[in-house]
Amino acid sequence: MEPKPLHISIALREAAAALRAGGLVILPTETVYGLAADAANARAVAKVYAAKGRPSFNPLIAHVSGVEMARRIARFDERAEALAAKFWPGPLTLVLPVADTAAVCDLARAGLDTVAVRAPAGPIAWGLIEFFGGPVVAPSANRSGRPSPTTFEDAVAETGEAADAALDGGPCEIGLESTVVALLDRPRLLRPGAVTRAEIEAVIGPLAEADADAKRSPGRLARHYAPDLPVRLNVEEPNPDEVFLGFGRWGGAGGFNLSPSGDLAEAAANLFSYLRAADLADGAAGIAVAPIPDEGLGEAINDRLRRAAGFVG
Ligand code: TXA
Ligand code: MG
Repeated sequence: MEPKPLHISIALREAAAALRAGGLVILPTETVYGLAADAANARAVAKVYAAKGRPSFNPLIAHVSGVEMARRIARFDERAEALAAKFWPGPLTLVLPVADTAAVCDLARAGLDTVAVRAPAGPIAWGLIEFFGGPVVAPSANRSGRPSPTTFEDAVAETGEAADAALDGGPCEIGLESTVVALLDRPRLLRPGAVTRAEIEAVIGPLAEADADAKRSPGRLARHYAPDLPVRLNVEEPNPDEVFLGFGRWGGAGGFNLSPSGDLAEAAANLFSYLRAADLADGAAGIAVAPIPDEGLGEAINDRLRRAAGFVG
């Protein structure tokens, strides 16, 4: 018998219906898996915070299908237009003055008069938002403080119990969360990510640091993206009881190699799943990570590693 061909649109329609009913959906994006809810529905957003065990002062990103939907909820200036034209759909989140406080409810914005927007790449995320017909909040689908899930299985293990539907998009292509840039006064880099500082500066000029204004990104807690085992960074020679995450010429003897060829994009894609796997190693006392060059994507990788190690205040 011939198999019955089921179109992806059936799954998307059902997932959109779950969102409309106030439910939660596990959603693949090009960066990491998200736990999605209707951005306008405060009850649904409250369920997201509960599922993650996330402090409710941490605002969420409103995911849109494109710049048109984004302009309905946020006030775009020239810099925002230029960045969206260059990097959307893709791993860049813009923090802008909010234009429609009902479309992205107060709880989703943590009461701020700003809103974070991004148009994710990839047909599943785009398709869900289009079928749903409005912005969808989607924090990474991990429980608060844990590494972001980059595979369907990890996402379901983290927050699947709270979800009404789950869309399987396979492993995430990028593996690191989006870059977050605030365009409120001076442009500020709130979270380094897959779009690098240099790529953004090429479009809008110099980016100020987030540290001067950390309150704008309350989600940046010290211990974040953290496995259960202690994490040690910039290690060239691991201790015998440590699982080693190698990079390039610092091989992953008895452990893992984030990228044998020293490729930062490959290391980013492997980072969270290897941290999770290392965490499960039998009898290990800790995780040691090889030095990662701090240029390009390395800035985002080192940011996540410092947080996994609990070093960032
Ligand atoms: O790649 C990503 O961005 C993933 C995928 C699922 O799209 N999502 C994600 O969401 O990483 P989340 O909630 O884990 O991280 C959102 C970040 C936090 O650091 C939060 O503080 C910041 O964006 N953020 C959100 N709204 C903000 C606002 N109004 N002002 C400043 N920072 C904001
Ligand atoms: Mg997160």
